[in-house]
Amino acid sequence: MTLSKPQVLTLGTFPDATMAELERRFSVHHFPRIGHAVDGLDATTARQIVALGSEANQGINRALLAMLPKLEVVALFGVGTDLVDRGALKERSIPLSNTPGLVAVEVADLAIGLMIASARQIIYADRFIREGRWPQAQISLGRSVGKKTMGVVGLGAIGRPIGDRGAAFNMRVLYYGPRRKLDVPYEYVADVIELARQSDFLMVACKGGPDTRHLIGRDVIEALGPNGTLVNVARGSVVDEQALVAALRDGRLGYAALDVFENEPHVSTDLLALPNVILQPHHGSAGLETRIAMGQLMIDNIAGWIGERKLLTPVG
Ligand code: 8YV
Repeated sequence: MTLSKPQVLTLGTFPDATMAELERRFSVHHFPRIGHAVDGLDATTARQIVALGSEANQGINRALLAMLPKLEVVALFGVGTDLVDRGALKERSIPLSNTPGLVAVEVADLAIGLMIASARQIIYADRFIREGRWPQAQISLGRSVGKKTMGVVGLGAIGRPIGDRGAAFNMRVLYYGPRRKLDVPYEYVADVIELARQSDFLMVACKGGPDTRHLIGRDVIEALGPNGTLVNVARGSVVDEQALVAALRDGRLGYAALDVFENEPHVSTDLLALPNVILQPHHGSAGLETRIAMGQLMIDNIAGWIGERKLLTPVG
């Protein structure tokens, strides 16, 4: 007698190694994006699915869950749970896991890369050469990061390594969050506008969701000012994108470097038109080694639940 493999639905893009391992252990139905899954999953298949493995940025909503009556577990590939309808999961006692610990340092690296790329005009300088302008012109001077002030919004798993990296660059590091932390060497600023006022580089690394929606609004952006740079590797929802565009356009904010947007994967044409912005396609955690480790942890969570009703990294 052959035992059939558990049926697993996957949403998003995973490394080849992750897909191969998933397919070895489970019967996998793969959809690159949530819209495709809702449209493309037929009722017979949906009825057999026991586990859902999904990128954190896909969104797991009530409509999708309603299609999966046999679903027992959701395993996220990523950390943020702001796009998961946790209430709908709770109603059906479906547990949720994520991949904490693996993502943070990788995202911090990208944040620092974006800070330096903006200050030292790395992307602009590349274009300057490709456009054949070097023989005729000098590139304008960039800005130093050393001895400047870095303000970190949310000194959590991602914010802390961002601050540590800032300190290694000889920056003064300040942070804002819901509460002061006792075990950190950086100065706490209890007001995010004040943090922005004191910062040259404001690094947004807090959680997404209703509590932080538009935390970075017009007043914070203006406090950061014409010589300031906003780096966002958290969630698009944390920054009021309209206020950001207006301030960048009018020179009330100097520069922005963004890995996340309010309406991903669509980026507003207003942002695309601005020269003082660096845009990245939400790939903070996208180092191959990190993504493979995240994939393995997602698989271990799924297998742990199916086998022994145990999650390695449960959420809440
Ligand atoms: C994910 C993220 O890696 O972990 C998160 O919450 O937003 C990203 O770093 C991305 O969603 C891919 O799953």
